[in-house]
Amino acid sequence: MALIGVTGPGGSGKTTIALNLGANLALDGIEVVVVDANLVFPDLAVYLGVNPKFSLHQYLNDRNMDVEWLLMKHRHIKDLYVVLGDPSKGIDRSYNINSLYPLLNNLKRRFKAVLIDLPPGLLPKNLFYLSLVDYQLFVVDPARAPLPKLETWIHSLLVKSLESGIEEIGLVFNKIPMDCRPMRKIIKGLSKKIEGSGFSVFGEIPLSNLIHHATTSGLTVIEVMGHKNPFVNVSRRIEREVLSGHPKPLKYLRPLQSPVVG
Ligand SMILES: Nc1ncnc2c1ncn2[C@@H]1O[C@H](COP(=O)(O)OP(=O)(O)OP(=O)(O)O)[C@@H](O)[C@H]1O
Ligand SMILES: [Mg+2]
Repeated sequence: MALIGVTGPGGSGKTTIALNLGANLALDGIEVVVVDANLVFPDLAVYLGVNPKFSLHQYLNDRNMDVEWLLMKHRHIKDLYVVLGDPSKGIDRSYNINSLYPLLNNLKRRFKAVLIDLPPGLLPKNLFYLSLVDYQLFVVDPARAPLPKLETWIHSLLVKSLESGIEEIGLVFNKIPMDCRPMRKIIKGLSKKIEGSGFSVFGEIPLSNLIHHATTSGLTVIEVMGHKNPFVNVSRRIEREVLSGHPKPLKYLRPLQSPVVG
């Protein structure tokens, strides 16, 4: 029913966030599929420690393939499905997000939530994708920009996203060193301003050895940290604001008039 694109710069944590939000949503009884749409460096299969039986790359070579074959059920978490790319495949320039349109359309009709783990960077104007996507979730690793520049950096991210035609946008801050009080203070202030501009900030995920351990061990954070893991609050907010069918109305539909900070 809702198609959510998970995006952000390289290494910010898109795959980790897509997988673990999916897992937590599924734990709440929501049927979720996480699609690895990084066709050049697909790594969801690696993060799950599995080999895809049928991969997206095979589907792209044979569009008549039954979508059911592509759906892999998580070994423990009921209601969590994944669609995996084949990490061993070389680059094929004829593949792009457009090629996934029929598949995504099919999944959107079938699942309550479709989380798309997108390749790094902003999407170019892409009508097929834009016609399907309901929400764009930006993963922001604040260590990617010097703290004083963080606000300008996020502002430009939001404006560019609006310019590319996506207006339903939310942020997740990832890899937050919880013991770094100055950074947390800046993020708190920034989150307030971003929310004041009509965008959602779904929360902060800590920089955590256990989260990293999960991704390198083929596990979800639920399996490592249990039901009270750091993704719970973020996934609950997404349930309320994105999946409830009543998304928060945006205050400004066009690019912000001025930077988030005055
Ligand atoms: N909150 C976190 N705490 C600790 N490590 C994390 C956290 N989030 C992600 N990581 C680690 O950071 C690395 C990059 O994460 P991930 O692959 O999810 O990023 P990505 O944005 O999908 O990268 P890419 O752009 O290459 O697809 C991984 O090693 C992962 O284990
Ligand atoms: Mg990734």
